[in-house]
Amino acid sequence: MTQYKIRPGTKEDMEFLREMLYQAIYVPEGQERPSRNIIERPEIAKYLNGWGRDGDIAFIAIDEDKPVGAVWTRLFDDRNQTYGYINEHTPVLSCMAVSPEYRGDGIGTLLLSKMMEKVRSEGYESISLSVDPGNPARRLYERYGFEKVGINGTSWDMESKFGEN
Ligand SMILES: CC(C)(COP(=O)(O)OP(=O)(O)OC[C@H]1O[C@@H](n2cnc3c(N)ncnc32)[C@H](O)[C@@H]1OP(=O)(O)O)[C@@H](O)C(=O)NCCC(=O)NCCS
Repeated sequence: MTQYKIRPGTKEDMEFLREMLYQAIYVPEGQERPSRNIIERPEIAKYLNGWGRDGDIAFIAIDEDKPVGAVWTRLFDDRNQTYGYINEHTPVLSCMAVSPEYRGDGIGTLLLSKMMEKVRSEGYESISLSVDPGNPARRLYERYGFEKVGINGTSWDMESKFGEN
């Protein structure tokens, strides 16, 4: 696990982030993966449209020189909401994914921990996300203090508050 490095994501990572967005689409076991153009659907494309705007934060996990995972947060507002949106002051963890052959090796934990630290250090009071309750990633989120705050279709909206300490 120690061979993996984390670096901030930039506009140049767009292509990899698109791949990670696709990889993050939750497919219950036994079901077929949707085609790649699912990420063009407006409600999904929102997570990357105009990538690099104020408030966007991304981290990329690297194995040697190869990107193998990513996490990013964005700010939205009442007129441009997404799944997991709470308010314009709360970053939405828009996507977290690790390339399939690298899963289960601690990279997701590394990425999330880095992102929680960063968002907290920027002065935000909390961070939110949306996850299918059947997704094993939910356990990871719960370890980082995320709690269910609502239901949207079949997904849960979750929030982790930073508190004073
Ligand atoms: C969720 C994900 C980013 C975690 O990254 P990872 O590097 O596999 O994570 P870690 O090795 O640090 O393990 C942390 C947790 O990830 C989940 N996880 C681990 N391996 C996994 C796998 N092969 N598939 C799905 N989730 C897995 C588990 O919840 C694990 O916690 P556990 O040890 O309590 O079971 C990664 O598995 C992934 O890309 N999954 C598909 C995309 C996805 O669902 N993203 C979240 C969308 S909301």
